[in-house]
Amino acid sequence: LKRLTVPAIRARKNAGATAEPLVMLTAYTVRMAQLLDPHCDILLVGDSLGQVIYGLPSTLPVTLDMMCAHGAAVVRGSWHSVVIVDMPFGSYEGSPEQAFASASRVMAETGCAGVKLEGGTAMAPTIEFLSKRGIPVMAHVGLTPQAVNQLGGYAARGRTQEEHARILDDAKAVAAAGAFGVVVEGVVETIADAATAELDIPVIGIGASAKCDGQVLVAEDMLGLFERTPRFVKRYADMAGFVEDAVKAYADEVKSRAFPGEAQVYKPKP
Ligand code: KIV
Ligand code: NA
Repeated sequence: LKRLTVPAIRARKNAGATAEPLVMLTAYTVRMAQLLDPHCDILLVGDSLGQVIYGLPSTLPVTLDMMCAHGAAVVRGSWHSVVIVDMPFGSYEGSPEQAFASASRVMAETGCAGVKLEGGTAMAPTIEFLSKRGIPVMAHVGLTPQAVNQLGGYAARGRTQEEHARILDDAKAVAAAGAFGVVVEGVVETIADAATAELDIPVIGIGASAKCDGQVLVAEDMLGLFERTPRFVKRYADMAGFVEDAVKAYADEVKSRAFPGEAQVYKPKP
């Protein structure tokens, strides 16, 4: 079995409404990538690793070095999914040339299949620039966390008619610019539905709509491994509880000298 490709992902849109929705999750580390990979079409090395892995207050302090290190680990830990790496804040917005320098470094150092960047109409020239130079780009519109200081928080977007139209325009602009897919995050359902119906590229929803061409979640969120879980996250497991139980059992056994037991110690040859 060969690894999926960006054109194969892109073609899932053309397969029409009967196509199976795309399955996408974030992965930041090699072991998690190995576990998620067989079940996913796309693994996203999201800049959400800033909060989830590094305890940062937002995605803004995430660096290219961090994205390259985690991107390479996820590529090493996967063989089936298309791996997409987020462009961190400050690494691409300045100009198409800056974006190309950053994105080509990410591609070369990680072996990923493409990059994702936030922004709609304003980023369209950059998306076109990269796409025409061998770098597949997934766009990200709606609630764009790197713009948190402009948005004033992480509340859902597009509740007013004006903003509804603006986000739909953003989605159309990135598709026209050559993005091979677009993440639509934290928007009222009708925006996601309209984008899915009107765009000729896959629309991947998060906090969006069940009608999207695919869904993405932060793996740690759906596994119950991260403290903050927004409304749009469904928890499929309580990994935090699982870890807590195991660590408590270990601590108890260390204190009672039940660990290590006979099976875990070495003996001299008789
Ligand atoms: O960084 C991230 O995890 C993301 C997804 C939530 C789409 O961008
Ligand atoms: Na992100």
